[in-house]
Amino acid sequence: MRKTQVAIVGAGPAGLLLSHLLHLEGIASVVIESRSRAEIEATIRAGVLEQGTVDLLTKSGVGGRMQREGAVHEGIILRFAGASHRIALTELTGRAITVYAQHEVIKDLVKARLDAGGEILFEVRDVALEGLDSSFPKVNFLWKNEKQQIQADFVAGCDGFHGISRPTIPLHRRTEFKRNYPFGWFGILVEAPSATDELIYAHHERGFALVSTRSPQIQRLYFQCDPADDVKNWPDARIWEELHARLGGADGWKVTEGRVFQKGIIAMRSFVVEPMRHGRLFLAGDAAHIVPPTGAKGLNLAVNDVKVLSEALSSFYRGKNEELLNAYSATALKRVWRAQHFSSWMTSMLHRFHDDTPFQHRLQLAELDYVVNSRAKALTLAESYVG
Ligand code: FAD
Ligand code: DHB
Repeated sequence: MRKTQVAIVGAGPAGLLLSHLLHLEGIASVVIESRSRAEIEATIRAGVLEQGTVDLLTKSGVGGRMQREGAVHEGIILRFAGASHRIALTELTGRAITVYAQHEVIKDLVKARLDAGGEILFEVRDVALEGLDSSFPKVNFLWKNEKQQIQADFVAGCDGFHGISRPTIPLHRRTEFKRNYPFGWFGILVEAPSATDELIYAHHERGFALVSTRSPQIQRLYFQCDPADDVKNWPDARIWEELHARLGGADGWKVTEGRVFQKGIIAMRSFVVEPMRHGRLFLAGDAAHIVPPTGAKGLNLAVNDVKVLSEALSSFYRGKNEELLNAYSATALKRVWRAQHFSSWMTSMLHRFHDDTPFQHRLQLAELDYVVNSRAKALTLAESYVG
């Protein structure tokens, strides 16, 4: 049996950063993770960090490599009707975004925790939470084929959308809000220099496409697809044909082709559970909410949750003051719903829906035209995008 102050389920960005921030406040935690270290450090996911996320990582001492290797972007491109239009993020808001892959953030956080003597137990199984309504919650699990128990003051459920923390909350004590989208994203990693200095969000009658980057030699590209499709149906030649069709235009701009070394299909959904707390269990990140990736908000919301939660826990341990803990759910949810609104807006403006009529297509183009030609509307987008 292990004892600690905060037991953290899940070593994603939420769980690892929470453990790191608590450590800086002198609060002990143990992180348990169902996958291996190699696996979590290799899973390809998000890439866009808001300024606030960058600032927090830097201030807490885990931003060194991100500062050196991440790319600061001061604008994004909206591309529609065959032409590109820049949204000048920094000019409009004074803030920027940084493109730095989520699995690099994971590597930096794992290293920081282990270097500081932090405990992360990888490849645990059969995790179950107990006594959440008491002051002595417990986490039971199997590790190296042996039964283990952690006794803690609090449990942080940072185990993502498919984790066990949220479903442990009795149904009558939680409300779930959800929307599934009838499309997904096909994502690829490509070995090729980028043909653009800034991310391109493209609207096209064949569907949405996104040009992002990972380094000067690696591009990250996405295009809207059927979520039930199979990567096997997409040989490289077909992928490039589709990307050229959606990204091409009268201005002659072309995406650069290269060796495709990773392919995957991502489902899209919006989801929120309320409240984000049940007794001594606090949910953070994807365990509590999912946004469609069009607004690049998921990772940043996870970071915001654990910032709020670590401050609340630290206030509790310093003065036995539960005020911030009691406010946690409402404080985090405010930001969550704003991000839900933004992500849903970006998604509906840029994607093709099955029941789209030519009328709706024209409405999307009218809205895009408004966004790129009105400073007020561009500022609305920029403000939400940079966070
Ligand atoms: P996760 O990253 O899901 O971590 C949860 C961890 O818990 C996992 O390691 C999992 O193995 C572990 N776990 C699960 N169950 C258990 C269990 N029972 N016991 C122990 N451990 C368990 N967000 C952005 O902000 N910007 C972007 O540009 C962006 N792009 C994205 C692109 C794609 C293709 C995808 C898929 C997502 C994107 N997101 C983006 C969203 C972002 O990746 C997630 O919001 C983020 O990973 C949430 O972090 P988390 O720590 O809450 O959850
Ligand atoms: C990336 C992912 C996103 O969801 C997004 O909106 C922008 C960029 C990326 O993986 O680079």
